Amino acid sequence: MTSTSPETPNHASVHLRPAVETPRRSMLVHLFTAALSFLIVAVPSTLSGLFFLDPILRKRKAASGGSTDGEVPKKDEAGFIRLDVTKDAVPEDGTPLSVTVNDDLIDAWNMFRDVPVGSVWLRKVGAGPIIAFNSVCPHLGCSVDYIHAENHFFCPCHTSAFALDGKKTNEIPPRDMDALDVSMRTNGKEDANGSEIWVKFQNFQRATSDKIVI
Ligand code: FES
Repeated sequence: MTSTSPETPNHASVHLRPAVETPRRSMLVHLFTAALSFLIVAVPSTLSGLFFLDPILRKRKAASGGSTDGEVPKKDEAGFIRLDVTKDAVPEDGTPLSVTVNDDLIDAWNMFRDVPVGSVWLRKVGAGPIIAFNSVCPHLGCSVDYIHAENHFFCPCHTSAFALDGKKTNEIPPRDMDALDVSMRTNGKEDANGSEIWVKFQNFQRATSDKIVI
């Protein structure tokens, strides 16, 4: 029986040690579990958030003329778009030139780069300034043509007619053709003598006497 007495302190130490270490282990386990839970929730949430925001971010980038290829953007923050023709392409005798306007289109999840979004009529007389009209008829939205033989603009849908300065010449259209702001530039920078033609391309409400941006 005396052989058990020396072991008593050992038993005591064996039983006491877990009683001291359990709270620390438990705390570490809780911390680890909490960290793991955070990662499991936070990482997918962040990734899915970026996934959903991505079109918005791309849209903002495109709207500000964002370019990923290092070239001068074709659109600036004010909405001016560089046309694919230069000043020299516009006839000096005042004959209108039809030019397609390209821009990036974005739907919910897709971006279509540099696709046609409309067209403009450009005119200049001699060394005078270039003027631009949206080719959409202000009556009901057909496309206005230039009739060379009569030297005027004409819409075949309901016979709206316009002079070369865009003024309506009959009572069918509710207003004149929609003039657009033009900016002459060099490498995207304002330059009255530049050859790049930038147009603030906008569409307007039809069938109204007021020119209201859509
Ligand atoms: S849409 Fe042009 S005349 Fe009617």
